[in-house]
Amino acid sequence: MSVDLPSYEDLRLVRCTLEALPGVGEAEVLLIADGPRAAVSALVSDGRPLPEPTVAALPPARLGNGETQVVPGCLAAMERAAVLAIAHTVHTMGSLSDSADALGAAPRHRWIVRRWLAALASENLPVPPSRQELTRAMRDLDAARQKLGYPAEMGRFFQTALRSLPRLVRDEISLQSLLFAGGGMTTARGNYRDNLISRHLNRAAAEAVAARAPARVLEIGAGVGATTDAVLAAVGEVDYLFTDVSAFFLDAARERFAHRPGLRYALLDVNVPMALDEQPFDVVLAANVLHNARHAGRTLAAIRELLAPGGTLVLIESCVEHHLVSASMHFLMSPRADALLPGFADVRQDQDRVFLGRTEWIRQLAAAGYRDARVEPAPGDPLAAAGQYVFTAVRGDRHSPPAPLLSKAAEALPPHLVPREIHTVDALITDRSHRP
Ligand SMILES: C[S@@+](CC[C@H](N)C(=O)[O-])C[C@H]1O[C@@H](n2cnc3c(N)ncnc32)[C@H](O)[C@@H]1O
Repeated sequence: MSVDLPSYEDLRLVRCTLEALPGVGEAEVLLIADGPRAAVSALVSDGRPLPEPTVAALPPARLGNGETQVVPGCLAAMERAAVLAIAHTVHTMGSLSDSADALGAAPRHRWIVRRWLAALASENLPVPPSRQELTRAMRDLDAARQKLGYPAEMGRFFQTALRSLPRLVRDEISLQSLLFAGGGMTTARGNYRDNLISRHLNRAAAEAVAARAPARVLEIGAGVGATTDAVLAAVGEVDYLFTDVSAFFLDAARERFAHRPGLRYALLDVNVPMALDEQPFDVVLAANVLHNARHAGRTLAAIRELLAPGGTLVLIESCVEHHLVSASMHFLMSPRADALLPGFADVRQDQDRVFLGRTEWIRQLAAAGYRDARVEPAPGDPLAAAGQYVFTAVRGDRHSPPAPLLSKAAEALPPHLVPREIHTVDALITDRSHRP
């Protein structure tokens, strides 16, 4: 369904009008779908700085157990192989002093090459690795991959990606063709399900969902269903809306979960106003997807509107950009060659990065109107070396705005721009420069 969108200038007018009203320090304007049109909704705060968000104390080492002790060492070996492969690639394609353009990178992948050059500078690798060094590192990578329980297909994927960096960066082959080789999903499932790290994270996410059972669950960016599998194993009867931006994954899921009653399927894109016939949900689950949001904070605020009061958001996110990711999965994050849309519009803008940090997510959750944020694993847990976290947070209450606010907004704005709802929150997403 196509939606009529107010212009950027319209949204700016709404924001500025609200911010000029007494008692309003800051305003954030959101678009919410309203039948075939988009309606304006707004969050306002008094503009006082948000106190440092607190993360609830965690049950000690809930995620980790003995088997996770191997994680830091294995990841170090994998990172070493990736950075040596990057060094080899950069030296083969050009030289360390070269820019991304001079290396012949496709324009859309130049941000990746800039990341590589920064990685090589920070790892102090001025000379190319020897063939023996590279071969040894690749062997160590495969041993680490096995110890972490990744399937053999993942090993082949890492090795092929690292050996194909020049072709990947010139867009002569796509990462999708390596990840979904032969049309199968085994490799992708290896990355998001069949390994020690994902097993722990998916289990923690599934426990958070099961704790709310029986619940209406919305999964966003459910993709190959790696986290879905863990959730469905943890809950009994379920009322579950499986969504993704791509029909390819919905078709595959329909087939795979045909035996499970209670699942339904829908297209959902976190970068357009989200409205679903079935809302509100008790739980929204988003595993390894919200970094695709152009503005993470605005998407969190929009998801909050899909949750019932007291509903829980469960996120899995990578919060560290490992070299191995920069030499593989990051190719999926480059814009399409014909993309017209700008890239990230939040704290990541113009920074050649994809992920928000752990603290950045906690802040964004607080600013988008969630409370009781919890994060696992805890910093000292060996699993934390993976830089991937499960965040849970509860939809916070909103207070009604002071009564005159809505009427004053209605006096000052053209009728179609008067916010359908205005909520007051303790604080707003902090990156003012990126708001309309
Ligand atoms: C890294 S995969 C994770 C898949 C799954 N959640 C898991 O952990 O196994 C990211 C998924 O998000 C989907 N995705 C990408 N951009 C999206 C968007 N703008 N809105 C919704 N889903 C999106 C992709 O199609 C893909 O299935």
